[in-house]
Amino acid sequence: MIIAIPKEIMSEEKRVAAIPETVEKLVKMGFKVTVETKAGEGIFCGDEEYTQAGAEIITDVASLYAQADIILKVKEPRHNDRVNKHEIEMMKGESILITFLHPAAPFSHKNIKMLRDKGITSFTMDSIPRTSKAQRMDALTSMSTVTGYKAVLIAANRLPKFIPMIGTAIGSIKPANFLVVGVGVVGLQAIATVKRLGGIITVVDIRPEAREAASSLGAKIGGFEAPPELAIGKWGYARALPAEWLAKEREALTPLLAESDAVILSALIPGEVAPILITDEMVAKMKAGSVIVDVSIDQGGNCAITEAGQEIIKHNIFISGLQNIPGRMPVHATWLYANNIFNYVENLFKKGVGELDLEDEIVQNSLVTRHGKIVHAGTLKALGEAQ
Ligand code: NAI
Repeated sequence: MIIAIPKEIMSEEKRVAAIPETVEKLVKMGFKVTVETKAGEGIFCGDEEYTQAGAEIITDVASLYAQADIILKVKEPRHNDRVNKHEIEMMKGESILITFLHPAAPFSHKNIKMLRDKGITSFTMDSIPRTSKAQRMDALTSMSTVTGYKAVLIAANRLPKFIPMIGTAIGSIKPANFLVVGVGVVGLQAIATVKRLGGIITVVDIRPEAREAASSLGAKIGGFEAPPELAIGKWGYARALPAEWLAKEREALTPLLAESDAVILSALIPGEVAPILITDEMVAKMKAGSVIVDVSIDQGGNCAITEAGQEIIKHNIFISGLQNIPGRMPVHATWLYANNIFNYVENLFKKGVGELDLEDEIVQNSLVTRHGKIVHAGTLKALGEAQ
């Protein structure tokens, strides 16, 4: 079976789905691996390194796709302007695709229908359950780890101040105050990063478990708590708060925002749009020169005035709505992702190369299309609602 690794084509996307180390492991499993020329350019990994690991380099992307039984990618398929063909169009009928598909999101529905109609067996890396068995394949957690770290650096870069306490001959400069709203994977990594930089950190989360984890990392807990029966749902995940409780949360956040130099927003209920926790009015009350990094922007953002993909200044506050943050730190983001996807392939073919294990719970959760049908529960629900 041939596994192909194309070069990612989204602008600014520097990650790639395999590194020489994982190519070597795939070859050892019994796959033939082909890699598009310059696929590793963004992570400073040349064609020779892939060749040494056992891959064949292919220059013509159309023939890379045409020969492949399995395509491993990072981003959802899109139109390749260079060859004027959609990536799905170039795939062999009945072949296999493993990538981030975000299949339930409306922007993906066209792709999912194309995959269905072409008989592609597709798996999405964003539907790996957060269980201990699946941890080593959990690409969402890996990418959130990168994002939590990088979000703090984006804030640091835009802050017109020092983050740590600095002693000078003139006197001491106070450390910067950070506020993190939503301390899941992104938030916890953000706390660790602020701590390393010497900032002071306060957090708000509606799950007691998240607050405990934040506290154990040395964060102060902001005053807001919602009743657990409202805040916690199935499997301990957060639940969407009713409107009156969201209003109370915004009230509690207002004084915390006024004290903050930098705010990282990463509050999310899985599978839903992000709650709006900061309004235009609340931003206007913040200290001039402060910074907001709203990483929940792909789900609409936690701040009402964040603009997707943009960095803006409003009320003298810098607001980042940058998307695809892991793509801005491609070397380690790729190292994590390439290992996650290798572990996924290893689990998928644990019965042998060419034999998909479709009984496996992780595989079932992430299967999107098979034999001309959409089988992913969240996608079917979203399509049903859309029709
Ligand atoms: P997560 O599910 O691990 O954490 C979300 C946290 O928000 C949970 O602890 C939850 O309890 C909390 N939360 C929910 N409602 C809240 C509320 N009303 N107030 C306070 N806290 C609340 O998610 P993860 O992996 O940390 O991701 C967070 C966000 O970052 C997501 O929106 C995700 O899509 C985004 N993200 C963005 C990236 C980018 O490139 N911009 C890359 C990776 C993640």
